[in-house]
Amino acid sequence: MRNSRITGVGHYVPERIVTNFDLEKLMDTNDDWIQERTGIKERRFFEPGKDTNANMAARAAKMALERANLKPKDIDFIVYATISADYMFPGSGVLMQREMGMETIGALDIRNACSGFIYGLSVADQFVKTGMYNNILVIGSEIQSSGLDLTTKGRNVSVIFGDGAGAVVLQPETSSDKGILSTHLHADGNFAEELCVIEPSTSRRSERMPKELFESNDIYGHMNGNLVFKHAIVRFSEVIKEALQSNNLNIEDIDLLIPHQANLRISGYLEQKLGLQGKVYNNIMRYGNTTAASIPIAMSEAWQDGLIKDNNLICLAAFGSGFTWASSLIRW
Ligand code: ACO
Repeated sequence: MRNSRITGVGHYVPERIVTNFDLEKLMDTNDDWIQERTGIKERRFFEPGKDTNANMAARAAKMALERANLKPKDIDFIVYATISADYMFPGSGVLMQREMGMETIGALDIRNACSGFIYGLSVADQFVKTGMYNNILVIGSEIQSSGLDLTTKGRNVSVIFGDGAGAVVLQPETSSDKGILSTHLHADGNFAEELCVIEPSTSRRSERMPKELFESNDIYGHMNGNLVFKHAIVRFSEVIKEALQSNNLNIEDIDLLIPHQANLRISGYLEQKLGLQGKVYNNIMRYGNTTAASIPIAMSEAWQDGLIKDNNLICLAAFGSGFTWASSLIRW
């Protein structure tokens, strides 16, 4: 069976920069607290009327296509990871397809939060491996800012998140030791409510959106921060080691780890614990946590910066809501 490989990476972030000092004006927080606990200095918030989840994805996809020397008409499938789709339904995959003037190719939406991009990459990889499709766009795109409680009540969650989009193009690779070597996906639904947005729920009562819902905290993200931190550092390490073991590789073989940009303290912990000093890519300082978009945005910037070279071993890893966690090893 053939492998798949990433032939183009792209990203787009909204122009509006929101610094920690800007947040200080909205809630009782401060730059020191945010930087010390999360590493974040600023993030991007979308501009209503200009940015949508799908058009940010389209801009990221165009960059990825250009870098892969492909046109939109060359793409034969879309895998689109987001938890902040433009509509309740349909998913944003079809909106991006329309935005890019693509033919009637299939568009699959994935909602595995921070792990969504690697879940999407894994699905696309299987389609290329089996020969069903040749050129697949895998997207991670999020508009988180419109769902944040930007008051003191919501500060433990709202200072962390930002908006943006990333995209990769997957194409067939003939050599069995190049391209996506493996993907590893996990979930544990016992922790579903530890990091979640519950409302509007389809099943909690007979009416989906009664008026009183708009006063409910459940329309905002809930995060058990300490528990998430504890599980994240264990699961990140496990799933990275699982990827290495299944390919008979060692931690020293990794040239660059691109973790989901959850929190700089989590990345710092992994860097120390795994002995990956100087080999962990971070850009959360500038964009905050962009959920499904964080890995492809980081990959695109790392590639631009010349940190991803031919033959490098790149490890992607994620942990997030579900809980879900995932990794992928890529021989570039
Ligand atoms: N500004 C100022 N003070 C704040 C803020 C804020 N934005 N948010 C919370 N505080 C206060 C709390 O009210 C609390 O005050 P108290 O001691 O008077 O009660 C104090 O700071 C400490 O609060 P904790 O929630 O215990 O803060 P903690 O040190 O655990 O840090 C954090 C919170 C950063 C979320 C941490 O738990 C963490 O890193 N968790 C990992 C989760 C994570 O990174 N999530 C990212 C998104 S999920 C994902 O992508 C996997």
